[in-house]
Amino acid sequence: MRMYDIIERKRDGQSLTSDEIRFVVNGYTGGEIPDYQVSALLMAIFLQDMTEAERAELTTAMVESGDQMDLSAISGIKVDKHSTGGVGDTTTLILAPLVASLGVPVAKMSGRGLGHTGGTIDKLEAIPGFHVEITSDEFVDLVNQNKVAVVGQTGNLAPADKKLYSLRDVTATVNSIPLIASSIMSKKIASGTDAIVLDVKTGAGAFMKQFEEAKELARAMVSIGNHIGRNTMAVISDMSQPLGSAIGNALEVREAIDTLQGNGPHDLTELCLELGSQMVVLARKADTLDEAKERLTENLNNGKAFDHFKRFLASQGGDARVADHPELLPQSPCTFELLAKESGVVSKIVADNIGSAAMMLGAGRATKESKIDLSVGVVLHKKIGDAVNQGEPLLTIHASTTTVDRVKEKLYESIIIADGVVDTPPLIYDTIT
Ligand code: URA
Ligand code: CA
Repeated sequence: MRMYDIIERKRDGQSLTSDEIRFVVNGYTGGEIPDYQVSALLMAIFLQDMTEAERAELTTAMVESGDQMDLSAISGIKVDKHSTGGVGDTTTLILAPLVASLGVPVAKMSGRGLGHTGGTIDKLEAIPGFHVEITSDEFVDLVNQNKVAVVGQTGNLAPADKKLYSLRDVTATVNSIPLIASSIMSKKIASGTDAIVLDVKTGAGAFMKQFEEAKELARAMVSIGNHIGRNTMAVISDMSQPLGSAIGNALEVREAIDTLQGNGPHDLTELCLELGSQMVVLARKADTLDEAKERLTENLNNGKAFDHFKRFLASQGGDARVADHPELLPQSPCTFELLAKESGVVSKIVADNIGSAAMMLGAGRATKESKIDLSVGVVLHKKIGDAVNQGEPLLTIHASTTTVDRVKEKLYESIIIADGVVDTPPLIYDTIT
């Protein structure tokens, strides 16, 4: 088999065979095929696309390029949730104990964040003592005991994806549906879950800004998952404005605590119930979405989800007192209110700009090596559609310094106040099965 022929076939719009795809992935991971040939193939894929079968083969080859988690010792159907990433997305912290409280095993492998705000692990590490450096045996035992555990991503998960992604990054081939979908799904499938609920975000703060693109990506990922025998579905949700009120690690933990007690922001609570019901149904712990939603709502209101959260924190070394005393979380020394300059109705809260403002405060990483400040961030007091009077606080800034003029300027640019009636964006745009 020759790499030259494979490039030529894809250039001419033909489908690659399973053997050809494996030849490329294994040869590239093993260092036998040079960057320039793989670059040419990536561009050919970018321009010619891949069939559903090719996408599934590419994903499988990337999964098999590294370690795969073996979760077979965990009883029940393991269901994972994956979000394509947004601003202030606190859902995992809430969903994991909430869904576990109905007996669904949640064996979660998570990463640290890059950009906007931290990842799930960064947020959990805002809880004193909590750690994710556990062995796979401990991980399996914890899920069997408590139905929920979170472990840090192993270094050798889908190494082919890591190498291909770096190459895509410098060859203008990141933004390709078959390449994005196989990249995301390879890591999910290698982490060993039986079923997957995808939360594909759309809007200013999302990777896919347009709904049609988000839908195409969702369809591609659902098809790959189902092709490979992992029951997969996707929800397309709004990321034009940040989710919930809090953006920033410890601030989002606090928001998760409120939500687990039934006092969370409306949009965050609704999205958790929607994604959670899908997870419960895939795990066959309820027959219908309505039944699942009803039981999840019950557990938010009767304290069961909250108790499960405390048990989860303690089981991984965390100080569970934080749940009842969120003031024990890291707190920033300075707070500032951003006051509305005019009266009207909030018409835009541009999510990616709010994310950038949180980054400027130190809540996110610019590079993999950056250290983040867990205490800083932003808490919104208004969302799209809310009326506001001049001089009323739009949000509170939590900062480590007294000089936040540039951050304030950025935030003012990101929040648009209009006259008259403003329609609130829908929370869920579509569901793909
Ligand atoms: N996230 C990924 O993991 N891979 C991509 O290709 C794009 C976003
Ligand atoms: Ca939030």
